[in-house]
Amino acid sequence: MNMTPSQIVEYLDEYIIAQKDAKRCIALALRTRYRRMQLDTQMQQEITPKNILMIGSTGVGKTEISRRLAKMMRVPFVKVEASKFTEVGFVGRDVESMVRDLVMSSIALVKEEQQELNEDAIKEYVLDKIVEKLLPPLPPLASDSKKSEYESSRERMRAKVIDGKMDDRVIKIEMPRITLESSDSSLPPEMAKMQEIFSTMSGAMSKKERQKELKVKDAIKVLDIEASEALLDMDAIRTEALKRAEDGGIIFLDEIDKVAVSSSSQGRNDPSKEGVQRDLLPIVEGSSVGTKYGSIKTDHILFIAAGAFHLTNPSDLIPELQGRFPLRVELESLTEQTLYAILSQTKNSLPKQYEALLGVEGVELVFDDEALRSIASLAHLANEKSEDIGARRLHTILEKVLEDISFDAELYRDKKYVVSSDFVHKKLDFVLEDDDLSRYIL
Ligand SMILES: Nc1ncnc2c1ncn2[C@@H]1O[C@H](COP(=O)(O)OP(=O)(O)OP(=O)(O)O)[C@@H](O)[C@H]1O
Ligand SMILES: [Mg+2]
Repeated sequence: MNMTPSQIVEYLDEYIIAQKDAKRCIALALRTRYRRMQLDTQMQQEITPKNILMIGSTGVGKTEISRRLAKMMRVPFVKVEASKFTEVGFVGRDVESMVRDLVMSSIALVKEEQQELNEDAIKEYVLDKIVEKLLPPLPPLASDSKKSEYESSRERMRAKVIDGKMDDRVIKIEMPRITLESSDSSLPPEMAKMQEIFSTMSGAMSKKERQKELKVKDAIKVLDIEASEALLDMDAIRTEALKRAEDGGIIFLDEIDKVAVSSSSQGRNDPSKEGVQRDLLPIVEGSSVGTKYGSIKTDHILFIAAGAFHLTNPSDLIPELQGRFPLRVELESLTEQTLYAILSQTKNSLPKQYEALLGVEGVELVFDDEALRSIASLAHLANEKSEDIGARRLHTILEKVLEDISFDAELYRDKKYVVSSDFVHKKLDFVLEDDDLSRYIL
């Protein structure tokens, strides 16, 4: 998508408060990729992305920024925890699986796009199938008048199905075969091949064995899958998905600090952590990774690593890896003001979420402004007193403030419930006064 960096930042501002540097840095990285794609292929090959390292304590928006971006830009995106990987040769998840995950995410993305593009055709296909099941077939030697009669009853039946009048009618349909896309990407390609063979074997069940009786409304969902398989060109989707992942994919490597080995902990160095870092090198640098859809080059995948780096420093990473993350951004800790802004200014803010949730129960929940200020100030206080968990503190605080209303929602049905500052303090002051209690509850 061709948004300028400032448009990207503007979009992020709707969801994430502060963290200007990080937003700018990532927005620019994405724009650079767009610029690159406009060049001729030879030049394109020369330009590799500058990977980003985000440093900031927990709950300040590192993951949120990346997640929002990937959603908006509609690029293949995966988030993985560096600490989950084990060195090649040891039991566990090997680092290459993140590239395979990226390809899966890319396939899902491209497939969804194609489904949207072919929405009408897919609907038609499903409708035809259902009408076919609901109407007895026309005898092969029917007269012309019978044929036209049949046509008009088909039309009537179509209308009924569209209006949902046939929703509860039971029909017999064939369940689709287990599709290959649903298999597990943590498997290396050779194993995935084996899994594929097994799934084709299960797919070899006869048509009769796969028949199932379903209500029309449920059959529609099953037939949707069948329609996609029949109408979409899966080979083209795979090719396109591989290319998209290669040129536009983002891998978000969370908790990179957990594989850094602190220089101060002499003697207790963990060789497997360094092993993971070494395994990461070729992938970040650019290499070929085999997936069951073909191999993919990682040269142009953008890597965004993030970590709190409380116990370790970026300089505790092995030098080769440090060098592959040339752009560094620091995210600031959240102040009382930012916490207040997060509550009051973001789209889909937590208070809005609670209002919507309780709205389902017929309760009109309203936070007055003073209440939001108190929540922000108490969250900040709790962060200072115990551990600083950033904006996540707002979740625990709000949960505590609203627990009774939430639980007894039906008592407030059709009523307006105003959450005031007094109410917030009544709920939380005794907790915050007691250090042990607050550590335990908030
Ligand atoms: N600056 C911010 N603006 C708005 N919401 C925020 C901000 N920072 C954090 N949040 C909210 O707090 C929650 C946690 O944020 P996020 O997942 O980004 O933390 P993180 O920085 O990745 O932390 P960790 O190091 O623990 O992974 C999310 O629900 C997010 O919406
Ligand atoms: Mg995170």
